[in-house]
Amino acid sequence: MPNTHPPEASLRCRIDIAGLRKSFLAEGREVVAVDDASFRIHDGEFVALLGPSGCGKSTILNMVATLITPNGGAIRVDGEPVVPGRPVRHVGYVFQKDTLFPWRTVEGNIGYALELAGVPAGERRTRVDEAIHLAGLDGFARFYPSSLSGGMRQRVSLMRTLIAQPEILLMDEPFGALDTHTKLDMHSVLLDLWERGRQTVLFVTHDLGEALTLADRIILLSARPGRVKQDFKVDFARPRDAVALRETPQYAELFSRIWHSLGEEFAKGRSV
Ligand SMILES: Nc1ncnc2c1ncn2[C@@H]1O[C@H](COP(=O)(O)OP(=O)(O)O)[C@@H](O)[C@H]1O
Ligand SMILES: [Mg+2]
Repeated sequence: MPNTHPPEASLRCRIDIAGLRKSFLAEGREVVAVDDASFRIHDGEFVALLGPSGCGKSTILNMVATLITPNGGAIRVDGEPVVPGRPVRHVGYVFQKDTLFPWRTVEGNIGYALELAGVPAGERRTRVDEAIHLAGLDGFARFYPSSLSGGMRQRVSLMRTLIAQPEILLMDEPFGALDTHTKLDMHSVLLDLWERGRQTVLFVTHDLGEALTLADRIILLSARPGRVKQDFKVDFARPRDAVALRETPQYAELFSRIWHSLGEEFAKGRSV
């Protein structure tokens, strides 16, 4: 298997997934969504989980987030087995769908986690203002989600999660519903934020360009049932310019190498 590389043993393992399996019962039939998926993510790594729609990406992410229970295998975060239903410390989740509270303003949405945690009003104000500024949302603090564009709503979603300072960030196609240019803007925003925080990220996507722009490693999943097909290192220099990167020969070279392999899985996905 070309370009498959061993995990970097010198780095601390944050997420360890071994032999993970999940099946669902749908109309009396067993659908195996994930079968024997295994991989590790190390401290500060930005890993993209790439595969065609329906291959089990969200199912894997939701098992790491303890939202659903695996049928087999093990997930450890910082060496501790995760327990379904029990939130894991230091983990933040950004969903694909817009989960903002429509009755709360931008600042109300971003500050929500701090309110829950009982952070005093003064400190909350400072942190929310900083988050609004970092997300490029100055002047929009008092706006409600309904009067924001899709890109701005996703900026709010991102900051609502990041304000709690998670060390591990799970992201499920957070920019999937955005148009191409807004998506590129969001890649720049996320790259800037990640340069500051260097969180450990597991980012689900079916978009190869997005995975190449953001990640240090791309884990390519097979068509359903999802298991790891290949593991690619993306060693483009950082900090990255989300727009300029796409015009480099290194980007084009790695894109075409992974594209073929991903295309095979898209084709299999269509034929089941
Ligand atoms: N709650 C569920 N009940 C039944 N089938 C499900 C459920 N969740 C996911 N699946 C099935 O599992 C497979 C993988 O789904 P998912 O993880 O959402 O894929 P992806 O995120 O890669 O698009 C799909 O065939 C999907 O229909
Ligand atoms: Mg999904």
